[in-house]
Amino acid sequence: MFKNDHSIFIGKEAYEKLHQLLVSYIDDGRQVFFLVDENTYKLCLPILINQCNLGGFNVIIIEVPSGEKYKSLETVTGIWEQLTIAGADRKSILFNLGGGIICDMGGFAASCYNRGIDTIHIPTTLLSMVDASVGGKTGIDFKAYKNHIGTFYQPKAIFIFPELLEGLPERQLKAALAEVIKYGFITDPEMLETMSSFISNPAFFEQLIEPCIKSKLEVTTDDPLEGGRRKILNFGHTIGHAIESFALSKKIDLLHGEAVAAGLLCELWLSVKFKDLDISILNNYFEFYTKYFDFLPFVKGNEDEVLHRMAFDKKNSAGQLLFVLISEPGKPIWDVPLTEEQVMESLTYYNSLIL
Ligand SMILES: NC(=O)c1ccc[n+]([C@@H]2O[C@H](COP(=O)([O-])OP(=O)(O)OC[C@H]3O[C@@H](n4cnc5c(N)ncnc54)[C@H](O)[C@@H]3O)[C@@H](O)[C@H]2O)c1
Repeated sequence: MFKNDHSIFIGKEAYEKLHQLLVSYIDDGRQVFFLVDENTYKLCLPILINQCNLGGFNVIIIEVPSGEKYKSLETVTGIWEQLTIAGADRKSILFNLGGGIICDMGGFAASCYNRGIDTIHIPTTLLSMVDASVGGKTGIDFKAYKNHIGTFYQPKAIFIFPELLEGLPERQLKAALAEVIKYGFITDPEMLETMSSFISNPAFFEQLIEPCIKSKLEVTTDDPLEGGRRKILNFGHTIGHAIESFALSKKIDLLHGEAVAAGLLCELWLSVKFKDLDISILNNYFEFYTKYFDFLPFVKGNEDEVLHRMAFDKKNSAGQLLFVLISEPGKPIWDVPLTEEQVMESLTYYNSLIL
């Protein structure tokens, strides 16, 4: 268990802890809501019903459709409507049972409802276990701009049950590897070793969870509002988010992790060029990328639009494009200003790799 200003419980023993927590809430007369999407309703909720005797509690299920295009104000409005109709008050609790989208959106809905009700994450994808559920960022996309509206709002607790990953499609598991390897570049070089001997099996995925959470906590605890060092978590994301936003605006099927994986390739290239990163690090990542990800052909020919989305990104200020680059694994530098031409060169590099 990690102890912070909130607690993170991992593994089968956490079922008992969750059960006790639910008992205490119900005894206290607090209304309990579970936010799910159609997949976590079908695949994850039955496991909780079974393991925590959830069926024995009077909990209200709010179901929303899955997918980034539903990470929207319309969906959140629907959540607020259902909370209101059910009579949720300031003592009510919203559990978010799902991937990064459910955690981000449920956290956001909870942070505004009645000026903030308690929320608890139960992440169900590898990406949300290693990253999205931790750190207190919530949000929704707006006008196809990623996470454009959001809040910093810490969950009261996080429960992680790796066995929930068993039903997760291979594509989702692979996409999460981008966020995992990111920790290797910014805080935990040992992770790069681990990933070089990566094997695609559930036991391996499980062993990635705790070191990633440790890294994320180490960074976010000292800088919860991203005034400084927390920005290093955006490595790969400035270009990744721009690619993701572009795909979202064009209804191209692309996962967050797949966009970040491409962003990492570009931002490692920029690190070689501007921060003297050893080129072997880029070359090793290139091999990793080609093994687990496909190149994104739509980037070619749309570089200007991708750049435009980057310029709009909240991480950039005063007309400058601000980047996180690394001089070596574990040595990130944030707020590195780059010109549009310099960034464009990295997209040209990425496109040159597409056969
Ligand atoms: N707040 C943060 O710090 C942070 C960090 C990283 C990413 N994010 C956000 O997270 C989102 C991506 O999260 P994601 O990759 O988890 O995607 P997701 O939430 O869309 O989940 C992926 C898919 O898997 C399904 N699913 C979830 N759990 C499952 C399970 N156990 N078995 C089978 N299917 C399951 C979902 O229904 C969905 O279709 C993005 O919107 C990104 O912006 C937030």
